[in-house]
Amino acid sequence: MKAIRGMNDILPEEIGKWHFVEDTTRRIFDLYGFAELRSPILERTELFLRGIGEDTDVVEKQMYTFSDKSGASITLRPEATASVLRAVIEHGLLGKDPIQKLYSIGPMFRYERPQKGRYRQFHQINVERLGEEGPYCDAETLAMAYELATALDLNNVSLEINSLGCASCRKVFMQQLQSFLEHKQAVLCEDCSRRMHTNPLRVLDCKTDTCQQVVADAPSIEDFLCDDCRGHYHCVLEGLKSLQVPYTKNARLVRGLDYYTRTTFELTASGLGSQNAIAGGGRYDGLISTLGGPDVPGIGFAFGIERIIMLLEDRTEDVKGCYVVIHGDERLQHEALKLLSDLRSANLRAEAVLEKSFKAQMKRAGRSEYPVCAIIGEDELARGVVTLKDLRTSFQTQAPRNEVAKKVYSLLEEQGGYS
Ligand code: HAM
Repeated sequence: MKAIRGMNDILPEEIGKWHFVEDTTRRIFDLYGFAELRSPILERTELFLRGIGEDTDVVEKQMYTFSDKSGASITLRPEATASVLRAVIEHGLLGKDPIQKLYSIGPMFRYERPQKGRYRQFHQINVERLGEEGPYCDAETLAMAYELATALDLNNVSLEINSLGCASCRKVFMQQLQSFLEHKQAVLCEDCSRRMHTNPLRVLDCKTDTCQQVVADAPSIEDFLCDDCRGHYHCVLEGLKSLQVPYTKNARLVRGLDYYTRTTFELTASGLGSQNAIAGGGRYDGLISTLGGPDVPGIGFAFGIERIIMLLEDRTEDVKGCYVVIHGDERLQHEALKLLSDLRSANLRAEAVLEKSFKAQMKRAGRSEYPVCAIIGEDELARGVVTLKDLRTSFQTQAPRNEVAKKVYSLLEEQGGYS
């Protein structure tokens, strides 16, 4: 039996990196006053149709949708935004506090063609910040994303930013774009010659060579922004400068989900190949009301955790603990069990495999990541002591039975700075 294509197991040897990413995320987001919200991975299909937009690749091609036993159409969440907003509306969170700063970490599902950095089950760190319209909220939110990338030791991260305007200035731009594309329809790829009618913005970020050549001469959204949107965009950029976050403007950055207004952005990192976006997001001022909630603005982003993991060096954590070995008959097993329990009570990791021969136990201890091993033999039992062996230096010493944990701690400290 094998895992489903595009869905990966995360094995113990990799889990240190995942913990590092998750712990760093919680630490940074806490500094900005964000709280965690966990929503189910299944939602009614309609939520995503309304929330993401029916003309997007995600909704058209990538959703895992099926009927449950009652015949209801349900979908494995392809992203977290719609689910988080559904939860906020359902629980009236904005009535309790009109400003909500929320994050979520968990698996998402998209039926895409799997390749390096693109999976069918993948994990996101997702942020939603609701109730603030001003540009400094955008600047600070983008800065938080950038700070997380920096805290994760990711090098060569660049931030690309654009403004998609509001519903009214974007409408004018879309009309201009559409009439520009009409003359070029013959050379557009199949998807884009359809999309130019349903969702012309998407043509701007098509990766096909011919489409890219066409859009190189397309009108730029920046020239169509209304005064309010232009002012907003300007202040976001000024805010980023004050926060010392480097950015590049990219007027072709449109993103694959339909809900964005004004600020949109992506973080990319080198070393990932073609799937080099580690995070993306933007403002979505009409979305909460589209989903049946109050007319409250919002902005958010999501990181793809697998892509971060690919960029991280291996992380092995030093074990703070002691391996226990017995040398003698079954009676010693009880002593070992008591010692294991005492060590754990003293907050030390402790393990043993007591059924094996002394030689086999010592071999396992030597191969383990434990820095210290405790040996109980007949002689030790008779004298009420335990032998402790430093597995890195082979230095041996003895400790009275009731002081073993203390002695292990002092050996760990000598080895290198445990406290
Ligand atoms: P997105 O750009 O679709 O945005 O996804 C965000 C990030 O998730 C991407 O930059 C990428 O790192 C990762 N990602 C997406 N698809 C895959 C995949 N198939 N395999 C591996 N990683 C993937 C959103 O999902 C928005 N909901 C973000 C947002 C939150 N906007 C506002 N709030």
